[in-house]
Amino acid sequence: MVGYAFMGAAHSQAWRTVNRVFDLPAQVTMVAVAGRDRGKVTEAAERLGWAEAVTDWRELVSRDDIDLIDICTPGDSHETIALAALAAGKHVLCEKPLANNVAEARAMAQAAATARASGVRTMCGFNYRRVPAVALLRRLVEEGRLGDIRHVRATYLQDWITDPQFPLVWRLQKDLAGSGALGDIGAHIVDLTQYVTGQRIAGVSALTETFVKRRPLPSASAGLSASPAGDEAGAQTATGEVTVDDAALFLARLDGGAVATYEATRFATGRKNGLRVEINGSLGSAAFDLERLNELEFYDATVPATRQGFTRILVTEPDHPYLSAWWPPGHIIGYEHSFTHEMRDLIEAVAGGTDPRPSFDDALQVQLVLDAVERSAAAGSAWTTVDPA
Ligand SMILES: NC(=O)c1ccc[n+]([C@@H]2O[C@H](COP(=O)([O-])OP(=O)(O)OC[C@H]3O[C@@H](n4cnc5c(N)ncnc54)[C@H](O)[C@@H]3O)[C@@H](O)[C@H]2O)c1
Repeated sequence: MVGYAFMGAAHSQAWRTVNRVFDLPAQVTMVAVAGRDRGKVTEAAERLGWAEAVTDWRELVSRDDIDLIDICTPGDSHETIALAALAAGKHVLCEKPLANNVAEARAMAQAAATARASGVRTMCGFNYRRVPAVALLRRLVEEGRLGDIRHVRATYLQDWITDPQFPLVWRLQKDLAGSGALGDIGAHIVDLTQYVTGQRIAGVSALTETFVKRRPLPSASAGLSASPAGDEAGAQTATGEVTVDDAALFLARLDGGAVATYEATRFATGRKNGLRVEINGSLGSAAFDLERLNELEFYDATVPATRQGFTRILVTEPDHPYLSAWWPPGHIIGYEHSFTHEMRDLIEAVAGGTDPRPSFDDALQVQLVLDAVERSAAAGSAWTTVDPA
């Protein structure tokens, strides 16, 4: 694994757990983690359960005792690490968004296609597909229970940078992150809605906004919970330009006939990690809220009007996706389980010789949507079609 902070910790937990929960055809060995700081990566290896710590990810790629590389770094290093790993014949799990721009994502999808010929597998970490209630929603759509999909309504709302004194962390710098709320959280709702509906976004009309244009420079490499830098009196010494969007909103048409709205923002005061999706079809509707991730709301318009109404399905039955391996019905699961499910599906695909989803091709298509959103926003919200993959 490369990178050992937020996603590194989430993935490590999943790698540690997956064979203990699921009966799988292969056993995970957590061989080594790579970071740039000897002391910190050594501490992380011990804490997260990796046998070794190395200070250059290239060492992981060149070793014979490593079969899979898990990329948990910011987007600016995804392409370089993935291409080197694939060239060395390693399977690759790469965090989302796949890359910082379409050219990098195309190169990664191309490398994945070449590697596939020798049985090498790739997957992008859109983990919310693996929330059981989301997988159930997908199943309901596939079974036709919602009928023809007319509306998709998706929001992903956070508020962690509403304070203008919050520092200029990597997520606010285009050269490191590619884009802001758009690629960080907008990418999730693009992938999730395309996955559950089976339809792809064909065109968009978008706007983006950056509310706070300059911010204090961070004291050190910092993540979501960074605090402002400054001298002992608390005065800020230096600021830098925010080069990404704080919020991205767009209308979309999907290729199966649905129309959609998307909103991704880090300025929704009071909303911490509010991902909500509602789908309206000719035969029913369904709604998912990440803050109540064990539940799916379902409205069945085919039952008599006197019994119609939104039903709260508690998605904890053994017949629900992924749940047979966990606890008795009603004993709920949480955020981290989506990563354990991600690793389960990846291991099954690698061991079974099939291609896991979302593939790098799927993730390239998400990148093309993000690109269309940025082009539309730059053109005064002009209607913009998504380029073909
Ligand atoms: N699936 C999800 O829900 C989800 C959630 C958060 C982040 N992410 C994605 O995961 C990736 C990492 O985000 P994060 O929140 O873990 O960030 P983070 O800042 O918490 O951690 C990044 C890690 O990468 C390391 N790093 C940076 N550049 C490196 C390099 N060149 N070589 C080696 N290590 C390097 C940092 O030292 C740190 O350990 C991003 O692509 C992000 O979009 C996904």
